[in-house]
Amino acid sequence: MKEKFDKLRQEIESDKQHIVDLNSLNDFRVKYLGKKGVLKLMMKEMGSLNPDERRDFGQMVNQIRDELEILIAEKKSEAEQMELNAKLAKENIDVTLDIEEKYIGTRHPINHAIKELVDIFTSLGYKVNEGPEIETVFNNFDALNSPIDHPSRSENDTFYFSDGLLLRTHTSGVQIRTMQSEDLPIRMISPGRCFRKDELDATHSPMFNQFEGLVIGKGITMADLKGTLTSFAKKMFGEDTKTIFRPHDFPFTEPSAEMDVSCFKCKGEGCKFCSGNGSIEILGCGMVHPKVLMSCGIDPNEYSGFAFGMGVDRIAMLKYEIDDIRLLYQNDIRFLKQF
Ligand code: PHE
Repeated sequence: MKEKFDKLRQEIESDKQHIVDLNSLNDFRVKYLGKKGVLKLMMKEMGSLNPDERRDFGQMVNQIRDELEILIAEKKSEAEQMELNAKLAKENIDVTLDIEEKYIGTRHPINHAIKELVDIFTSLGYKVNEGPEIETVFNNFDALNSPIDHPSRSENDTFYFSDGLLLRTHTSGVQIRTMQSEDLPIRMISPGRCFRKDELDATHSPMFNQFEGLVIGKGITMADLKGTLTSFAKKMFGEDTKTIFRPHDFPFTEPSAEMDVSCFKCKGEGCKFCSGNGSIEILGCGMVHPKVLMSCGIDPNEYSGFAFGMGVDRIAMLKYEIDDIRLLYQNDIRFLKQF
């Protein structure tokens, strides 16, 4: 019996040398421990032995099985490590390899300008309100104290739908929506698309973007308007920017003004950028007309406020030195890529 086991051990020793990977290890396991493996066959032989021999034989078989199980576990982790190393070596990344360049989009110059404007005013405590591009004639004109014969209301200037609706000609309707629906005091800004029947040329587009602002509270004066808008101009165009307020006329504000900023290119000397003026017109503004406050149910004896509106396209064109508004809407990637 001893001879038989010695022979078995020798055979195991020699087979062990052939284990080089998980496949050969599996063959080895099946040969000795499989269902029809060497040890199973030996156990079957046990029946023909006498009780003493059977006990020794059984012990030997169990011992060999234990040894084989330990050996197989060791070889398994060795083989797994080897396969992992081989895989890692094969999958080495060649960092010198050329890759196809992917084009990641950039922010559109209009959105750049809107973001800058929104950042400045939200840092001053304003919230952003948006309104619909299809607006009521009432919100776009009537509630804003626009007389029925005002030129901006004409069919030649405005895109009308039936049923008292139009494509908004400015963002000022958002003032009305805000005053009608929100608690006082109000401090809001509203960027958005607007539409007018303008011929397309280097400075006009039938679709453009405006940026509106509205403040309503107790004791708000023209000094607040000037202080706020001057502080905005310095943040937007540089700390040494100066502002000039020229009297103007809007139906929805009284008094009304247009604000110019000193040219941030020539600092007021006069250059091609500011057409030799030394200053550039930026926005319209004024104290909210008492009739507008009343149309929104706000008592003008108790509350006052100011509003302003500017063309975002114009701001973007000035800031990023774009000389034709059409470039903003042609979506030519060679142009847009620069921002
Ligand atoms: N809505 C005016 C325009 O389109 C701009 C403006 C807004 C003026 C608010 C004064 C106050 O020109």
